[in-house]
Amino acid sequence: MSARTIAIARGARTNLALLALLAVAFFTGWVAFAYATAPARWSLAIHAAGGFAILALLPWKSMIARRGLGRPRPGRWASILFGALVLVSLAAGLLHSTGVLVYIGPLTAMDFHVGAAIAAVPLAIWHVVARRLRVRPTDLSRRNVLRGGAVVAGAAFAYAASEMVVRATGMPGAARRFTGSYEAGSFVPAAMPVSSWMFDAIPQIDRSAWRLTAGGRHWSYDELATFDDRLTATLDCTGGFYSTQEWAGARLDRLIEKTDATSIRVVSTTGYDRRFPIHRAGSMLLATRMGGQDLDSGHGFPARLIVPDARGFHWVKWVSAIEVDDLPHWWQSPFPLQ
Ligand code: HEM
Ligand code: HEM
Repeated sequence: MSARTIAIARGARTNLALLALLAVAFFTGWVAFAYATAPARWSLAIHAAGGFAILALLPWKSMIARRGLGRPRPGRWASILFGALVLVSLAAGLLHSTGVLVYIGPLTAMDFHVGAAIAAVPLAIWHVVARRLRVRPTDLSRRNVLRGGAVVAGAAFAYAASEMVVRATGMPGAARRFTGSYEAGSFVPAAMPVSSWMFDAIPQIDRSAWRLTAGGRHWSYDELATFDDRLTATLDCTGGFYSTQEWAGARLDRLIEKTDATSIRVVSTTGYDRRFPIHRAGSMLLATRMGGQDLDSGHGFPARLIVPDARGFHWVKWVSAIEVDDLPHWWQSPFPLQ
């Protein structure tokens, strides 16, 4: 084989490995977002190792990219933009995890991390289609699979070492929760950050006109405020922070009629909604207060849902209706679309 053929074959293997690693990082990132319990940590360990493996391959990829840029063809700007988005995502992930820079203006490093990754998806598809790979059977030979395994093992080691350095040097990242989130404003309601899943703007709701539809009737704010069920629970936001508060309000099983329904749907004034298995009703709270104070608009006034051990996007704000029906609880987009 000529040197050029060898270089091209190596390039194809690097690209193939990058494709697999990008897919793993993207998938495990979303798995981590789906949980506020142990699976989030496991998924993030794979996620971070995948991210470090991508970093390890970047010197090789930069040689391929330089070769590609040396023969200009249509779409090179799309490749460059794709590269820039991947680099932004990697950098923001590392800034977040080390704690070097967690808040960037009104956004968080996590917002940049995930935002850049999502924006890169169409470009990644385009890139793979437009710069077609010539995969040969030998790319998956035993030797190459072992090489790939060595890259992944090295990356896992580098990730473990980076975590140790973060802890040993007392970088802010050492204080992360197992989901990677940072503590913010626990037990101090005024200091708890306000965030939304995506596009929900904060509605201004008139206390006296507001009604909650649940259990076949309409509840006024004053009626709801007489409930005093308490729950200390941690909101773990996918934006990268968590906050523990004492919430007070009505346990959901007190608001719905006793039925043999299978799921509960909690709906916001904004149209945002989430669905839960009915057996969780006794562990969820429709809160009107946190830390003994009425909720403010940003945190869901007049009433918001508290779902212990579930990510923040399940904690519907500005709740206007609680319905029960026979649809399975998983009959919804795993992540909200609004
Ligand atoms: C292009 C795709 C992606 C790459 C290459 C990537 C890579 C990384 C890297 C290198 C880190 C830092 C790991 C560490 O040092 O602990 C990280 C952290 C993180 N990523 Fe991603 N990521 C990608 C997409 C996503 C997506 C789509 C999500 C969520 C939907 C996500 C969620 C997270 C979370 C929650 C952390 C924080 C982990 C922690 O602090 O322990 N990532 N990512
Ligand atoms: C970290 C992810 C990646 C980045 C940042 C990246 C970036 C780039 C850039 C900037 C170029 C040069 C401009 C061009 O030719 O359009 C390029 C070329 C190329 N990329 Fe990627 N790419 C990535 C992943 C991939 C993947 C997953 C594949 C295929 C599965 C791939 C296949 C190719 C091919 C075949 C070329 C052309 C090389 C040549 O002409 O010699 N790349 N890439």
